[in-house]
Amino acid sequence: MTHTWYKDAVFYELYVRAFRDSNGDGNGDLKGLIAKLDYLQELGVDCIWLLPICPSPLFDDGYDVADYYDIHKDFGTLADFKTLVEGVHARGMRIIIDVVVNHTSDEHPWFIESRSSTTAPKRDWYVWSKTNKRYEDARIIFLDTEKSNWAYDELTGEYYWHRFYSQQPDLNYDNPAVREEMLRIVDFWMELGIDGFRVDAVPYLIEREGTNCENLPETHDYVKQLRAHMNTKWPGRILLAEANQWPHDVRAYFGDDDEFHMAFHFPIMPRLFMALKQASRQSIVDILARTPDIPALTQWCIFLRNHDELTLEMVTEDERQFMWAEYAPEPRMRQNLGIRRRLAPLLDNDERRIRLLNAMLFSLPGSPIIYYGDEIGMGDNIWLDDRNGVRTPLQWDNTKNAGFSEADATYEPVIDTDEFSYQRVNVEQQRANPVSLWHFTRKILALRKQYRAFGRGTFEFVLPDNEGVLGYWRVYQDDTTGQTERFLVLINLTNQAQQVTLDLAAWAGVEPVDALTGNAWPVISDGPSAFELAPYAFHWLRLD
Ligand code: GLC
Repeated sequence: MTHTWYKDAVFYELYVRAFRDSNGDGNGDLKGLIAKLDYLQELGVDCIWLLPICPSPLFDDGYDVADYYDIHKDFGTLADFKTLVEGVHARGMRIIIDVVVNHTSDEHPWFIESRSSTTAPKRDWYVWSKTNKRYEDARIIFLDTEKSNWAYDELTGEYYWHRFYSQQPDLNYDNPAVREEMLRIVDFWMELGIDGFRVDAVPYLIEREGTNCENLPETHDYVKQLRAHMNTKWPGRILLAEANQWPHDVRAYFGDDDEFHMAFHFPIMPRLFMALKQASRQSIVDILARTPDIPALTQWCIFLRNHDELTLEMVTEDERQFMWAEYAPEPRMRQNLGIRRRLAPLLDNDERRIRLLNAMLFSLPGSPIIYYGDEIGMGDNIWLDDRNGVRTPLQWDNTKNAGFSEADATYEPVIDTDEFSYQRVNVEQQRANPVSLWHFTRKILALRKQYRAFGRGTFEFVLPDNEGVLGYWRVYQDDTTGQTERFLVLINLTNQAQQVTLDLAAWAGVEPVDALTGNAWPVISDGPSAFELAPYAFHWLRLD
């Protein structure tokens, strides 16, 4: 159980720059985060995930690394990082960080050397070509800004390959020196005591002519090498894959328990939002039906929002148009193939729907990730460029800069207008209010952790005739004690009361108890069981 801690864990994703500024320079930093660890512990978080913290020009918020062996000067020092890791562990929590394997910044010394001449020793660390006509079947990911995956370099008259911004040249994983170097980087951070990595942009490591250059067998070979290295040197620490792909392609990244421990389930995320607007469970049922079983030691990671746009890459064209029309009516809300908005504004700040989606996040298969600020229903700022509008400072209280920083100007402005302004939405005020979203989040998190059913249990749909209602069993059998945890989760996806009739005769005589409220339901009879669910109601009924 201890080596598979990630199956029971609740993750919390945060951007150090946005969390808390300790020295008044307008940027959040490691010392600020250290000072707020009690807050994360109080919320009940098991594992924090830090967005990139290495030196970087921050063209892509640190996903453009200029030195893998240090901390960005705005965020602190390696000594601060050690203190952070100790502080996390002292509170019984864990910490993972991003490792950006696919590409570096164009300001990384490796790239500066690589581009300096066609015969430079590090020339082959990146992917160079005399023409920009190679790998034409690879899609462009940052559609809003990039015209090609090739960028022309004046100095040597050749093109270099980049799957993201042209400021992020791709490393060449056909080069054994690159593969070795990445393992050294892994060891460096592991030695600092972290519990794992969120591995960025995994599918794109290798390019091959005639393919879409994603999920290639050679990429899996490298992942296997990385995992074998982890198993030997760092057992118990995890690799979490960012592979924004269809379920069967992501399934391959679990390998035979010899690749990633965890992977994000990207396709289910937009479908949770879609199901609400369609007042129908169908899209959720379809995608989970298309989701293969995964090996014993692996786990999905599920999320509602993260630091990127709400991606609509893993939907059909019709579904994308539907999502854009419903959730991003204003063009500024759209980005690439997605929507750059936070959870609460997406749901019109309707707490019933925010809680409903969380009730699914915390009970569907996988380990949930909370995106910082969503525990209080923070807003976004669509007038900021790129994805910065969902990366604004965490709103701690109603003092200057929301209690985030003493500076006159912060790295991005604090949200200070209308219903999401920090005067109205902040941690302090919600902690003081027992019926706030913050208290709800804390409670549902704690509740989930009382059971193994949600992290480790089996999953089976319960599909009444009424499409507006989603139901599922989560059942966990403890082999040593013989005890069973059995939950029937019922979700009303609509804004109307809904009738459901279920055949629960096998449980006749059992009195279901809603774990979320403690309320007992009528004893189940041996005939059909009829219930009425209030608008947007959710129940976690214990039937054991
Ligand atoms: C991942 C990150 C995203 C970044 C990209 C390139 O998708 O989540 O923020 O821009 O990789 O590194």
